[in-house]
Amino acid sequence: MEKNVDVAIIMGSDSDLSVMQNAAKVLEDFGISYEMTILSVHRCPEEAAKYAKSLNDRKVKVIIAGAGGAAHLPGVFAAQVPCPVIGVPIHSKLDGIDSLYSIVQMPSGIPVATVAVDGAKNAGILATTILATSDDALRNKIIDYKKSMESAVLAKNDKLQKLGYKEYLNQM
Ligand code: RP5
Repeated sequence: MEKNVDVAIIMGSDSDLSVMQNAAKVLEDFGISYEMTILSVHRCPEEAAKYAKSLNDRKVKVIIAGAGGAAHLPGVFAAQVPCPVIGVPIHSKLDGIDSLYSIVQMPSGIPVATVAVDGAKNAGILATTILATSDDALRNKIIDYKKSMESAVLAKNDKLQKLGYKEYLNQM
């Protein structure tokens, strides 16, 4: 029997995996349950539709879908589920522009929240913030995460002021 998870990460091919792993890493860091699946909506459309139904039956809360080229996978899943879908355009022969436009330019009525080309890490963070709207512990983790980024930038600026840009670059 399939288990219940909060997030489903789906990708069209194993060639997307090296990018999509970055979404999984974020979810692991935040302690979010997820599953990862390779399914193509043009190479195995029936299996993909069956999987969409299983996501609905298990009330999965957020989907992260990565695809490249004529990247219809996120939109096709968004058409079949009631939960938010985050699309990750994967780099392609056209530098990911085709993937980006295919995902971000969904026709009216079926939105796909689209991150940057290869932006799987941001997709993981966005999924986490969506889940955090109904989970205070997760919300606090996101607040801490943002504070740690702030401290890192401020520390870099302190160092720049102390060293000057030439020595800063020498030490990089
Ligand atoms: C899409 O086609 C996949 O998402 C992948 O990004 C792209 C190329 O797939 P492969 O030919 O590498 O399997 O369906």
